[in-house]
Amino acid sequence: IKVEPYRPQTFTDFSLQANVDAYHAALAKVRAELLGKHYPLIIDGERLDTEGKLQSVNPCDTSEVVGSTAKATTEDAQRALDGAWNAWAEWKTWSMDARARILLKAAAILKRKRLEACALMSIEVGKNYAEADVEVAEAIDFLEYYAREAMKYSGFGASETTWFDGEENGLLSIPLGVGVSISPWNFPCAIFAGMLAAPIVAGNCVIAKPAEDSGMIAGFVVDILQEAGLPAGVLQFLPGVGEEVGEYLVQHARTRFITFTGSRGVGLHINEVAAKVQPGQKWLKRVILELGGKDALIVDETADLPAAVTAAVQSAFGFNGQKCSAMSRLVVVDSVYDEVVNQFVARAEALSVGTGEANANVTAVVNQESFEKIGKYIEIGKGEGKLLTGGETPGECGGKKGYYVQPTIFGDVPGDARIAQEEIFGPVVSVLRARDFQHALELANSTEYGLTGGVCSRDRARLEQARAEFEVGNLYFNRKITGAIVGVQPFGGYNMSGTDSKAGGPDYLGNFLQYKAVTERF
Ligand code: SER
Repeated sequence: IKVEPYRPQTFTDFSLQANVDAYHAALAKVRAELLGKHYPLIIDGERLDTEGKLQSVNPCDTSEVVGSTAKATTEDAQRALDGAWNAWAEWKTWSMDARARILLKAAAILKRKRLEACALMSIEVGKNYAEADVEVAEAIDFLEYYAREAMKYSGFGASETTWFDGEENGLLSIPLGVGVSISPWNFPCAIFAGMLAAPIVAGNCVIAKPAEDSGMIAGFVVDILQEAGLPAGVLQFLPGVGEEVGEYLVQHARTRFITFTGSRGVGLHINEVAAKVQPGQKWLKRVILELGGKDALIVDETADLPAAVTAAVQSAFGFNGQKCSAMSRLVVVDSVYDEVVNQFVARAEALSVGTGEANANVTAVVNQESFEKIGKYIEIGKGEGKLLTGGETPGECGGKKGYYVQPTIFGDVPGDARIAQEEIFGPVVSVLRARDFQHALELANSTEYGLTGGVCSRDRARLEQARAEFEVGNLYFNRKITGAIVGVQPFGGYNMSGTDSKAGGPDYLGNFLQYKAVTERF
């Protein structure tokens, strides 16, 4: 296929009134056309409804039901698995180029519906304009990028092998079979799309189980893939409860691979269940995990302090800190500690709190469970550090009931405090005081996670030291530590943050392929 080289999408400029107006028009369209919509299961191309339902509620205004999805049972999961294996017999014979074409077409459709997807996320999970826009851009990028990556595997022996006289040698890439993709609510469009597009374009069939809180945007993406021409059974859409259908599929003997993005606790459980060989199972299940983080940004005395504070605010409070990449620890060298912390607190206090559709800087967190968990950590924090701002969970804003949590900062938090070690996944930051840069790096590395991290410094030697010694999968210097761009910053962590599978990177498709070296002696 002739395609231009991959280039990431540009972001929408919401300082232009025309773009804000277009967003409002998309919100009105989504409210008129999608509010109250129900997304059934899709198994073998057929839309099937279930007795149970999963309701999507606007977290910024819990009186508003956004819509619903079906709630799959384990019988549905079994049917989806059987159907996907049947579909695989044909799908695995498609050429990489033909499969890639479907992703390219889906990307083109999503570009046309970009603002609608954004608006739906504003009301389903509370994203403000920029957060939603960056996410839909990322979803388009995943489709575009993985399509091009797949083309690299086209044809027998596409992978490089060394010439050997008298023989023909080649390395054949083969899809794995049928797997399950269990995706999170915090990037319900981009990560959902990426986690199914990669295995599918590589020739696998996927059962996609979206997060319970964001089934509508998942259904919206699935509709686009159907419209792009994905054959029946290649993508089975199975909204349901993780502990029920997720668990059933993870343990099943016929599941070949599991790709999961979510919490460390659930990820470790999946890893354990998947490792146990079931009667009749023929393979070692492949497990790809993207888990949590306790991400730190270090600021030293040589840094451009206002720029460092901007990086800290963006990294900590973008989408209310509900990103595995979010900065939840700010580590500041003692000599500039007061100056940095004062500015950081002032900037946090200036953030607007409100709904996603009103484009507030900080919106409501996703659901009751998160709201309670964050509230619990704030209480723990009051005993562990010095509360500098926030600390309340009002549960309402501007007359709307919702899961509102104040941007909260604790100062002088000891490195081993629970709020400095455990993932909170909300707008709560622990500031740690470091004696010097060396100590700051030690504090930053003193967790079991290794996802993102950053250093704001003008000292070249320190940046080089951090490049070598900061234990994270994504390291950023003199900027925010969130917002990895597909193909530009392959994303994913190590240690307890995951299997280092690097979504949006050149090796990602390899997670969903196995290889056969074939030799013919002439
Ligand atoms: N990829 C996102 C980021 O970099 C997190 O999932 O912020």
